[in-house]
Amino acid sequence: METITKQLWINGQWVAADRTYPLHSPYDGKLLAHIAKASPSDVERAVAGANEAFQRMKELPAHRRADILYGVVQLMIDKKEELAQICSAEAGKPIRTARAEIERTIATYRFSAEEAKRLYGETIPMDAAPGGENRLGFTWREPLGVVTAISPFNFPFNLVAHKLGPALAAGNTVVLKPAEQTPLSSLAIAELFHQAGLPEGALQVVTGSGRELGDALVTDPHVRKITFTGSSAVGRTIKEKAGLRKTTLELGSNSALIIEPDVPLESIVPRCVEGAFSFAGQVCISLQRIYVHRSVYDEFCTRFVERTKQLRVGDPADEQTDISAMIHARETERIEAWINEAVEAGARIGCGGKREGAVLLPTVMLDVTPDMSVSCQEAFAPIVSIVPYDNLDEAIELTNRSAYGLNIGIYTLNIQKAFYAAKQIESGGIIVNDIPTFRVDHMPYGGVKDSGYGREGIKYAVQEMTELKFVTVKTTF
Ligand code: SIN
Repeated sequence: METITKQLWINGQWVAADRTYPLHSPYDGKLLAHIAKASPSDVERAVAGANEAFQRMKELPAHRRADILYGVVQLMIDKKEELAQICSAEAGKPIRTARAEIERTIATYRFSAEEAKRLYGETIPMDAAPGGENRLGFTWREPLGVVTAISPFNFPFNLVAHKLGPALAAGNTVVLKPAEQTPLSSLAIAELFHQAGLPEGALQVVTGSGRELGDALVTDPHVRKITFTGSSAVGRTIKEKAGLRKTTLELGSNSALIIEPDVPLESIVPRCVEGAFSFAGQVCISLQRIYVHRSVYDEFCTRFVERTKQLRVGDPADEQTDISAMIHARETERIEAWINEAVEAGARIGCGGKREGAVLLPTVMLDVTPDMSVSCQEAFAPIVSIVPYDNLDEAIELTNRSAYGLNIGIYTLNIQKAFYAAKQIESGGIIVNDIPTFRVDHMPYGGVKDSGYGREGIKYAVQEMTELKFVTVKTTF
């Protein structure tokens, strides 16, 4: 990739900012590009343009909005490999994982195109209440206006698609602020929307970072909705500043998996390893805590560690690589400190726990207690703890002893236990007989507790990005 300067995308044009920042590869530090650093006045311009564009966007019929989204689907299909290379380079995502993300992103935009045609309302039986006779009542859904979308680095295409797809399907306009480390993916997508015929100003991309920029994006009077994926700490600040604006907050977790003794370990272990270490654990639903029934604990740990040691560490561009560098050296240092703290308090390292070059080796922790940071905080790193339990209630209690609640998994062949756990566990999603890391893009996805609120998954996100309007007509005088 040649070193270039990328500008802001405002009103269908590239716009220079006063300042830029250098974007480096997380793996080898290579300079990838110089990126525009938006100022609050750039944001003001972007939001004003999006607000103007909303007047055009809301007049666009559903079939046109769907066609634009289908257009992006086709353009993405045509450029799959180029887009995967961008994702891999800026996020440090192993290329095979980056390709899988592009496939998912195509599906997300396709679902969005379909959903654009399904903004249904309902009729209300008005005569169910005395005084409601001879009245027709019904609802429809209206777009909100300007949506601010703030997206994370870990799925630079697909988590952006989970915001743009539903927002544009519903007829909103969007000001997108991608993560500081992964702007190139968003700028590439902006070009594809432009080529697909999205009205100018309906998608603005402002890059950069910092409190001033964030505040401008959240508090601009024209912004009607903020959709954010990221840390609970930032989510809390956004909620405080958003005032009466609608917000969807998809925040972190320390996802858990319960393994009952009735499942074949040899067939689930590879999947569990994938859940813990895919994209170096930098996934909101990465498997961080595994609770295994004591009767199969030793066997599970042995198999899990063996399988983990087979993961290939290296350059994200290498076809063979399973696990590469975390997004930033300071994140690797944070996790190393957590590991040391846990070991000092009595935990053991099953494997990993150290670096190979810039890459933290996939790390398995044993003898972990619930109060250790590696267990109770969101790691967002290639680290997992395996803990034994004696009965299902104890496993559920350990699972729920968390500030978070996004996806939780349970493996069991016993249907009653599965439903019992599904009812008792405090989370937005329960994944029976798979890892909590499972997600397909149309399913409802979101958390409880510090994992946030609101749901993504296109149909659900469209509901969050529209207002329900009620109309009643008196049919006789
Ligand atoms: C996330 O990290 O929040 C999203 C996970 C996924 O889409 O697979």
